Amino acid sequence: MKEFNAQEQSSATVIDGKAFAQKLRHEVGSQVASFVGAHGRPPGLAVVLVGEDAASQVYVRTKMRQAEEAGIASFAHRLPAVTTEAELLELIVALNADERVDGILVQLPLPDHIDEGGVIEAIAADKDVDGFHPRNVGRLATGESALVPCTPLGCLLLLQDRLGDLTGLKAVIVGRSNIVGKPMAQLLLKAHCTVTMAHSRSRNLADECRQADILVVAVGRPGMIGSDHVKPGATVIDVGINREELGEGQSRLVGDVDFAAVAKVAGAITPVPGGVGPMTVACLLRNTLYAAQRRESARQKASELDVSTKGVAGEPG
Ligand code: GUN
Repeated sequence: MKEFNAQEQSSATVIDGKAFAQKLRHEVGSQVASFVGAHGRPPGLAVVLVGEDAASQVYVRTKMRQAEEAGIASFAHRLPAVTTEAELLELIVALNADERVDGILVQLPLPDHIDEGGVIEAIAADKDVDGFHPRNVGRLATGESALVPCTPLGCLLLLQDRLGDLTGLKAVIVGRSNIVGKPMAQLLLKAHCTVTMAHSRSRNLADECRQADILVVAVGRPGMIGSDHVKPGATVIDVGINREELGEGQSRLVGDVDFAAVAKVAGAITPVPGGVGPMTVACLLRNTLYAAQRRESARQKASELDVSTKGVAGEPG
C-alpha cells in the first residue's frame, strides 16, 4: 500500500493581503493624526478621473473612501470623457499650486485623445503619489529616495512580511509594465534579490519561472501561470485582476495565476481578490502621508533658511 505522503497533500499558505492592508491603513491613520497635531491640517489627496470607465470608477471610490477613513482630506475631480488635454493640464497646474493637496493621482487609463505621458509629466514630482513621474522613476532606478508606485510597493511589503530579509533570493517578474513590472524589478534589486524580468514573449517561460524563490506575475492574462511554472515552496504574488464571465450575467475576478493548481506547489500565494489589490490602496495612503511629511519638512527648511539669511542681511557691516 502506498504510504501517506504529507508533501503531496500540502498546499500553500494563502497570504492575506486584505488583513495586512487593513493593518497598514490603521498605522497610516495614527501617523496622519500625529501629522494633523503637528501641522494643523490633514494630508490632502486629489484624485482625477476622466470618463466613465466602470472599473476606474470603483477604484476611485475605494481610494477616496479609504483616504477619508485614514483622516486624509480627499478632493475628487470627475471629468467627462470629452475633456480636452488642455483642460486636464489646466486642472493639474491648479492642483500643483494648491497648498491643501499633497498627492495627485490621475486614474489611468485616460481616454485615447489624451497623451498619458504628458499628463504624468505635468504633475509636480513631489505630489506624484503614483510614482509615475520620470523624476521618481529615475530616482528609484538610481536608488535615491523617491515616491514609489503603489502596487509593486504593496507586493514588496507582503514579501518582506512573509520572508523577512530578501537578500540573495532569486526573483522572477513576469510582465514589464511601467506601473508594476519595471518598478517591481527596481525594488527587488534594491532589496538585494537576483532579478530576472520575463514577459509574454520570453522563451521557455516555465523554465525561467521555475528558478524563482519569488515569482511576481503581472501580465493581465487569466490563468497564464500554472503549476509547471512554480518551484516547490516558492512565494507567488499574483498582481493580475481579470474579470471572468460565467454566463447569465454572472462574473468573477481571477488572477494571472491558476490558483488551485499553483497552491498545491507553492509555499505561499496571494489570492485574487484579497491579495495585492487592497495593498495598492493602502500604499497610496502611505505615499500621500509621506509626500505631506516631505513637503512640510521642505517648507520648514525653507523658512529656517529665510530667517537665517534675513539675520545675516540685518547684521551690521
Ligand atoms: N490604473 C490601474 N492601476 C493604477 C494605478 O496604480 N494608478 C493609477 N493612477 N491608475 C491606475
